[in-house]
Amino acid sequence: MSLDLSTRVESALEAQTLAISNTAKKMKAAGIDVVSLSVGEPDFDTPLCAKEAALRAIHENFTHYTDSNGIADLRETIAKKFREENGIKDATASNVIVSAGAKQCIYNTLMALCNEGDEVIILAPYWVSYPAMAVMCGARPVILSGEYEHAYKVKPEDLRKAITPRTKCVILNSPSNPTGMMYTEDEIRAFGAVIAEYDCYLLSDEIYEKLTYGDIKHFSPGAISELSSKVITVNGVSKAYAMTGWRIGYLHAPDHVFREVSKVQGQSTSHPSSIAQKAALAALQFGSEDVIAMHAAFSARKSLVCSLLAEIPGLKFHIPDGAFYVFISFDEIQDDVDFCAYLLEEFHVALVPGDAFGCQGALRISFAASEDTLRKGIDRLARGLKAYGRKK
Ligand SMILES: Cc1ncc(COP(=O)(O)O)c(C=O)c1O
Repeated sequence: MSLDLSTRVESALEAQTLAISNTAKKMKAAGIDVVSLSVGEPDFDTPLCAKEAALRAIHENFTHYTDSNGIADLRETIAKKFREENGIKDATASNVIVSAGAKQCIYNTLMALCNEGDEVIILAPYWVSYPAMAVMCGARPVILSGEYEHAYKVKPEDLRKAITPRTKCVILNSPSNPTGMMYTEDEIRAFGAVIAEYDCYLLSDEIYEKLTYGDIKHFSPGAISELSSKVITVNGVSKAYAMTGWRIGYLHAPDHVFREVSKVQGQSTSHPSSIAQKAALAALQFGSEDVIAMHAAFSARKSLVCSLLAEIPGLKFHIPDGAFYVFISFDEIQDDVDFCAYLLEEFHVALVPGDAFGCQGALRISFAASEDTLRKGIDRLARGLKAYGRKK
């Protein structure tokens, strides 16, 4: 008898971000005063309208199976959002699927698109889960790295060079986790022009859409009509509405992709929780003021973090255009995994090494934390950096 396990799953990496926050949690539980700036979730409360809608759903016994693609009124609301806010003119509820987080939307899509040996182009620094998901779906992640000097932006000509007959899909994430960088409309249109030339899909992960700070306006490639048969747009309520635990994400896909993604979901999880769907519906319909308030706080924190970091010698960073992260780069430190382990052990501050995002000599700091926590964490980072330099 062979007790082999799936080589696809075995060869996929575990999320380093989760590993670090778990260690930090354990240290906290042991009574150590750990400052965690590693998490990718808003520290705000879920909007009241969403919580009340969930309670109503429970009391009204809205607790049974729903349509596996999601409840009709939520899908209608999402389709309207895609039309009005994202310029996806033809978006209808019949092309929308609601899943257990944007994460499941991405996984379902890659599962529906990829055959063994296909390639998925991922722009680095990337969100930790993309390569592992591609591997688990039988595909080979092809990493295309942006450089610090160009704010980590990948150029369309580099994308063209990376495309092969095996390329099934390109994943775009703007605003980006971990860099906070955003591509402009022109840059996205230039990517779109490349994609239009080849038989491949574009998966646009727009989960940080509502959290933008600078002059760049969020642009959805799904709005480019020539790409309507190729773009899958993913979004969700986790980040914008502080609803990470509710697990609601959603996507829009062209008919032929929609059918397959729907099959993946129908045969695996069915649908996300009926109660969470009602909560997400309320958030999308009535939560815009909460989004504005949280955005204002994030914006103030971004300015604070950038001004504190600017005073620390030995590191450099770009001011993020969006999301809630600053991606710090070091000239002197290459082994960021060792440095982050040192910071956690000796200075009790949890940060995520650039290695987790496919970029060495860097680390990610999340500003989804209170101003006091941010000040404390950045002070520890500064002291740790100095001490690490002496140690080497
Ligand atoms: C870029 C990116 N995409 C997707 C997700 C997943 O979001 P959700 O909580 O909706 O699954 C995250 C969460 O960290 C993310 O950073």
